[in-house]
Amino acid sequence: MNQSPLFKTAQQYFMVIGNPIAHSKSPEIHQVFAHQSSLDISYQRQYCPDDAESFHAVTEAFFNGGGRGANVTVPFKQLAYAYCQAHGSLSEHARIAGAVNTLLLKDEALYGDNTDGQGLVNHILSLGWPLKGARVAIIGAGGAARGIILPLIEAGIGALMIANRTVSKAATLVTELSAASNTVDSHDIDTCATDKLTGSFDLIINATSIGLSGDTLPLADDLNCHYAYDMMYGRKLPFLQHFIAHGAQVSDGYGMLIGQAALSFEHWTGQTVDVDTATATLKSLAK
Ligand code: ATR
Repeated sequence: MNQSPLFKTAQQYFMVIGNPIAHSKSPEIHQVFAHQSSLDISYQRQYCPDDAESFHAVTEAFFNGGGRGANVTVPFKQLAYAYCQAHGSLSEHARIAGAVNTLLLKDEALYGDNTDGQGLVNHILSLGWPLKGARVAIIGAGGAARGIILPLIEAGIGALMIANRTVSKAATLVTELSAASNTVDSHDIDTCATDKLTGSFDLIINATSIGLSGDTLPLADDLNCHYAYDMMYGRKLPFLQHFIAHGAQVSDGYGMLIGQAALSFEHWTGQTVDVDTATATLKSLAK
């Protein structure tokens, strides 16, 4: 008689490397994905001292020891990028983002991808918010903003404004991205100071790190949008409160967190994740 095995394969090893790392939700998220796919995985939080030598040593030991895939989080995304650039290879999204959040072995060398931006796009689309032709404003011009610009353009947005406290950083970001990618055309992207961002947009995305600081963004009174998205999650975010008061639909970045994780998991295992079901499971586990 043919008995179906409980698990499809032997246990596979994964980690998320960061500093700090104790707060990371990635192990729970990936266990839910693994359960969906009947895969037996070990997914560990890996603390690492904040220096390049330690990052290289820990990462090499993990993959030499049979590790299948790793997520990379703050503050190592740029180090992971530099490592893959020097010793392995990079996806187009990682190359343009200048940061890696997903590592795996390809042809016996490390391959780095960045699934953050596509995770955001997939979440926005799953909310039913239209991106094709949309007039989009991104607030922020740091690493988080850099990682979402190419995926948003690939999703077919119609116009893009990048607003930042320091306008020159927004302008530099646009110049760098258009030099690095044929898909990004600096002529199609405007920049301005955050407090000078006015008028109507379809979608406004908060890609600043302000949610962590307790400060609030200086948003103009006549700034409006249909949809507002904060890449942060987990708290009552002032950015979203502002746009709720203006009648917009809003979302925090929890779905992006699951979306980027799903893309990493699919890369590593070849299994498709049912993101809606996984999200419902994770929400019920959190209660
Ligand atoms: P991340 O990797 O999270 O993007 P980052 O590269 O340090 O972090 O970028 C932080 C972003 O948040 C920047 O756009 C920063 O604006 P500046 O370029 O002017 O520094 C923005 N930011 C952080 N704190 C802010 C604040 N209090 N008000 C407005 N913008 C803020």
